[in-house]
Amino acid sequence: MPLNRRTLIAVSLSVTFALAPLRLTFAASPAPAKGEHGMVVTAQHLASEVGIEVLKKGGNAVDAAVAVGYALAVVYPNAGNIGGGGFMTIRFQDGKSTFLDFRERAPLAATKTMYLDKDGNPVKGASLDGYLAVGVPGSVAGLEMAREKYGKLSRQDLMAPAIGYARDGFILNQGDAASFAGSADRLAKDPAAAAIFLKPDGKPYGIGERLIQPDLAASLAAISEKGTDAFYKGAIADAIVKASGAKGGILAKPDFEQYAVRELKPVTCTYRGYEITSSPPPSSGGVIICEILNVLEGYPLSYLGAGSAETVHVMVEAMRYAYVDRNSALGDPDFVDNPVSKLLDKAYAKDIRDKIDPFRAGVSQDLTPKGFGESKETTHYSIIDDEGNAVAVTYTLNGSFGAGVVADGTGILLNNEMDDFTQKPGVPNLYGLVQGEANAIQPKKTPLSSMSPTVVAKDGKPFMVIGSPGGSRIITITLEAIVNVIDHGMNIQEAIDAPRIHHQWLPDTVYVEPFGLSPDTEKLLAGMGYHLDLADQTWGQAAGILVGGKSLAEIEKGGGARYNGAIDSRAASGEALGY
Ligand code: GLY
Repeated sequence: MPLNRRTLIAVSLSVTFALAPLRLTFAASPAPAKGEHGMVVTAQHLASEVGIEVLKKGGNAVDAAVAVGYALAVVYPNAGNIGGGGFMTIRFQDGKSTFLDFRERAPLAATKTMYLDKDGNPVKGASLDGYLAVGVPGSVAGLEMAREKYGKLSRQDLMAPAIGYARDGFILNQGDAASFAGSADRLAKDPAAAAIFLKPDGKPYGIGERLIQPDLAASLAAISEKGTDAFYKGAIADAIVKASGAKGGILAKPDFEQYAVRELKPVTCTYRGYEITSSPPPSSGGVIICEILNVLEGYPLSYLGAGSAETVHVMVEAMRYAYVDRNSALGDPDFVDNPVSKLLDKAYAKDIRDKIDPFRAGVSQDLTPKGFGESKETTHYSIIDDEGNAVAVTYTLNGSFGAGVVADGTGILLNNEMDDFTQKPGVPNLYGLVQGEANAIQPKKTPLSSMSPTVVAKDGKPFMVIGSPGGSRIITITLEAIVNVIDHGMNIQEAIDAPRIHHQWLPDTVYVEPFGLSPDTEKLLAGMGYHLDLADQTWGQAAGILVGGKSLAEIEKGGGARYNGAIDSRAASGEALGY
């Protein structure tokens, strides 16, 4: 039979699928940063320097994480914060681990229907803008608990760099300036926020200009001197409560007085012999990453190849099933009985694999549970110290610059984390997540999160520290970085930079970053029934560390740098710093 072009393509495709991994060529990534004693990777270069200096001075990874947390609140105000909340996963050098939940809680006066109008429909913007969107902040209590229980240095030592940058200012680089420019209209709506983040002419600060935040310096100095009471029981809480009352919010002094950090057992699972330690509920992150990894463990991803239609197919189907569970079954563990052990069971993953058609896309509507009605601005940092203590922190204001409000005199931007609750079952939130009753609003309840600060270990030793911002996509961003290192052999920088895909059950769409898939792969997937959204934007800003080499191959060969750090090339002002 004479071979025409069409036959050749068919032959070459089938040979490729049968015999060898289909490789996608990624643009080259820069080399990861190297260090022998410690590594700090954050989304803002000055904060990375703060963390490294703490390590050099004898602080451990928790000390560095606390100092970085305060520094980012000053030099990365779109997401770094003391007016929001977050999670810290710690894996100690002896192999033990813990998890601090300092996420926001709903105010005592919150109600299930507080964002609905009289007809039961969500009021546009009510859970996103202004004081009604604000959850009770947890960052100060969380960072201080971490320092007191697991750090070595004084609060004053760890807060001094942040106070300095707030008092004396810092010079904005291109990435910093871009974040201000993108939110200028929103910040202009609150006079106190505008007075800090916009120039007197109303324009955002530009590249090379200095941002000085004297009110924030004073708030940080009060916390440094008096501890958490300065925030939760003193003038700062009074100022926030006063502004909230005057501007349509419901925050009250008892909300602040009753705020408590929870120390929880992290979620753990194994993937191809690696031990994953990540965030438990009230995050969905760790559970859903583990559920997806358990499903993927049954497929030869390394053989199928990064970016191949077959790899994308099984990844998307695993994501589809796991996000149904995320959006319908999980919530704050003080309010909801989370089916964590079922979702982490390898037998449950096998049941999911059995339902995945090897040749066709699934249909999200068919998975709707009975009775069920980006981002953007979170930030993640990864740190490891000379002793091998690894810390992963993801904390957030939720949207960029949170609710866009600052109580007069405090300099503190407040979060809009209340949008992470279900406003109304079946109605999408900021991240397009369609959620259910388990995540309904209740007083003192914490909204379900996707934040996934994760540490991976191998043979009892730290192997990888990883996490990212990205709203509902945090889970798939973190997952893909892990799979890229373990299954596809990428180095840590390549694993983080590689184009991403995302699926979250609803909408039933596969989001693909620019150049994420080759045109023929797109055609193959469309032929299987997938609806692809070829996004013109990237998402996420992962921050990762790999221990023992920059890639699995280098680790196996021996002789690689002890610590290898990578900040996402999408993070314009971030830096990985080792020493
Ligand atoms: N605010 C984003 C998250 O917690 O998932």
